[in-house]
Amino acid sequence: MRGRFITFEGGEGSGKSTQVALLAERLRMRGIEVVTTREPGGSPGAEAMRLLLLSGVVKPLGPTAETMIFAAARDDHVQTTILPALTGGEWVLCDRFIDSTRIYQGVLGNVDRRIIRALERATVGDVMPDLTFIMDVPVEVGFERVAGRGQVKDRFESEETDFHVQLREAFLDLARDEPERCIVVDASQTPERVASRIWLAVVDRLIKQRTPRVAS
Ligand code: TYD
Repeated sequence: MRGRFITFEGGEGSGKSTQVALLAERLRMRGIEVVTTREPGGSPGAEAMRLLLLSGVVKPLGPTAETMIFAAARDDHVQTTILPALTGGEWVLCDRFIDSTRIYQGVLGNVDRRIIRALERATVGDVMPDLTFIMDVPVEVGFERVAGRGQVKDRFESEETDFHVQLREAFLDLARDEPERCIVVDASQTPERVASRIWLAVVDRLIKQRTPRVAS
């Protein structure tokens, strides 16, 4: 049976990578094989493109070119990491995926929606996430968490506060548009509470359905 595909989306400092690790641990405890990955990146080719994208050298080419490089990275990631894992029955947990392109490049970068959707069809096809967690956190809380990491800000983290406020709104709108796939999680709570919320949703939406009913 094909594995399940879960993505985590949200703004900076929303705790996605922590939750990817915690969910992977819980699934493995149930005997499920899990691959954790991230975008941009997740395969050797895509990681090379990640360096270009996050360093800011692509920014002067404009948002459309930047979108195409995100798409090129995604194509390699889907073909070499995600699809083989799902086909082999493993579950894939991915830190950012198509929704980041829809929001960062589409909504905030004003890249034509038709270009975004065409690239999405070409790179992802039917490898769509079964479930997407939108990690929602007030912008100030996200900022404090990122500052606490003490790292140099990347191309997107350096944007103005207004950008991050719009980002949050855009992710919430997206979740409203696709309630079947997207679940908004209050990510300002402790990592343990957030993990429990996520786990309940995974059990409800993906695990319960896999357990065959026993005839009584
Ligand atoms: P990363 O260091 O992985 O940040 P985070 O911890 O916030 O996930 O950097 C990824 C950055 O790339 C992030 O600012 C969002 C941006 N991004 C896009 O703009 N478009 C995309 O399609 C993806 C996958 C990421």
